[in-house]
Amino acid sequence: MDQLRVVGGARLEGRLEAAGSKNAVLPLMAACLLTDEPLVLTHVPRLRDVETMGRILSCLGVEVAQEGDRLTLQAQSDGSVKAPYDLVSTMRASVCVLGPLIARRGAAQVSMPGGCVFGVRPVDLHVKGLNALGAEIRIEGGYLASEVGRRLQGAALFLGSRAGSSVLATAQVLSAAVLAEGRTEIENAAMEPEITELCRCLLSMGARISGLGGHRLVVDGVKTLHGAEHRVGGDRVEAGTFLTAAAMTAGDVTVEGVEPESLTAALEMLVAMGAEITQGPNWVRCRAHGRLGAADLTTLPFPGFPTDLQAQFMAALTVSEGISVVTERIFPDRFMHVAELLRLGARISKEGAQAIVHGAPSLSGAIVMASDLRASAALVLAGLVAEGETEVRRVYHIDRGYERIDERFASLGAEIHRETQPDLEQTASVC
Ligand code: EPZ
Repeated sequence: MDQLRVVGGARLEGRLEAAGSKNAVLPLMAACLLTDEPLVLTHVPRLRDVETMGRILSCLGVEVAQEGDRLTLQAQSDGSVKAPYDLVSTMRASVCVLGPLIARRGAAQVSMPGGCVFGVRPVDLHVKGLNALGAEIRIEGGYLASEVGRRLQGAALFLGSRAGSSVLATAQVLSAAVLAEGRTEIENAAMEPEITELCRCLLSMGARISGLGGHRLVVDGVKTLHGAEHRVGGDRVEAGTFLTAAAMTAGDVTVEGVEPESLTAALEMLVAMGAEITQGPNWVRCRAHGRLGAADLTTLPFPGFPTDLQAQFMAALTVSEGISVVTERIFPDRFMHVAELLRLGARISKEGAQAIVHGAPSLSGAIVMASDLRASAALVLAGLVAEGETEVRRVYHIDRGYERIDERFASLGAEIHRETQPDLEQTASVC
């Protein structure tokens, strides 16, 4: 198992290109099931989650061919409709194959994705949306199952969760409604840029969708979709992670290939903390001088502050001057990073879905354990500013959603090394 050894103290400087977006590419890959013509995706990130989705699609009879960052996916009109537990349970986004399978093949058996380290991850909105289109989803042996003897029917539906909208439930319903008969109106659709990107790809495949970027998406179903080529947009969460690291290290980093408007709330927060942001149509630069200031943040659906950057910003707040309040409105349990940040000397008290962060003058390096993807990235950021060395273990969590994170941080001047984690026997002999 790998670990990352981070030596604190470097000031990050330089420029890098945002990798393809993980949260965009996964639903885009599932969309290949909607046609028997090739769907070509370019600028695809090299991530474990992309490999996992590729393996699931292969189980469903899709020919998956990758050449560098170019991924060609060719589904058959029939083939297995069963997405196995062993794969789906490792990645929640796998559930996105459900809608396209039902819409194109009339049947599906997709394992329920289960929870993750930050709590229960329900799929009731996915089921509600597909049922509204006539799919009649059953839960059998831990699988979401459906067989429909006819074409799905368009419907008007409201997709509202406790936390507002749902990104993957919106992707799910969209990817089924495009082949349904008649009109589907999705009220309270997620507005995340990844959903707009999915709409654009579906439009290029011949779908009829209007309302892009808004809370109300209207789909007029068509009988068939054709293949297309689509370039995956830059990963705004990866970009936000690097920009936050720049601010924490009093650095100067430019991320290219990302649209600033996909990160407005996060960029506003960096400015509130004392960083200087400049931007162009597809790049953002973050400069900071000296210690950042405290700020209160609350995660919300887009365009609010993204939950996927909450942990990274908390890492920054642990060394900012003053007291900050972090409120998590999307995933109330998404605080796996707190316990590990405390090991680095951070001063955080968690109360339910809130954490109070008392900025400390410095952190001190330690061995910490990665858990969920973004919590793990937060530990790397904390290690960049901690005194001494920080070992981040179980790096496979990070590799799910960040492409070569060690090399990319090193290209900005960070002292960070990927190593093989000593196994228990070796360490046991030490004491
Ligand atoms: C997507 O997950 C992202 N994953 C997550 O990124 C991201 O944190 C999340 O959206 C919120 O932005 C991918 O795109 C692959 P939701 P998703 O449905 O769609 C509740 C990362 O680190 N809900 O928008 O699963 C849910 O519990 C990952 O890259 C229901 O109640 O999240 C939450 O409170 C982590 N019922 C809220 O909606 C449902 O059926 C928003 O979740 C579905 C969701």
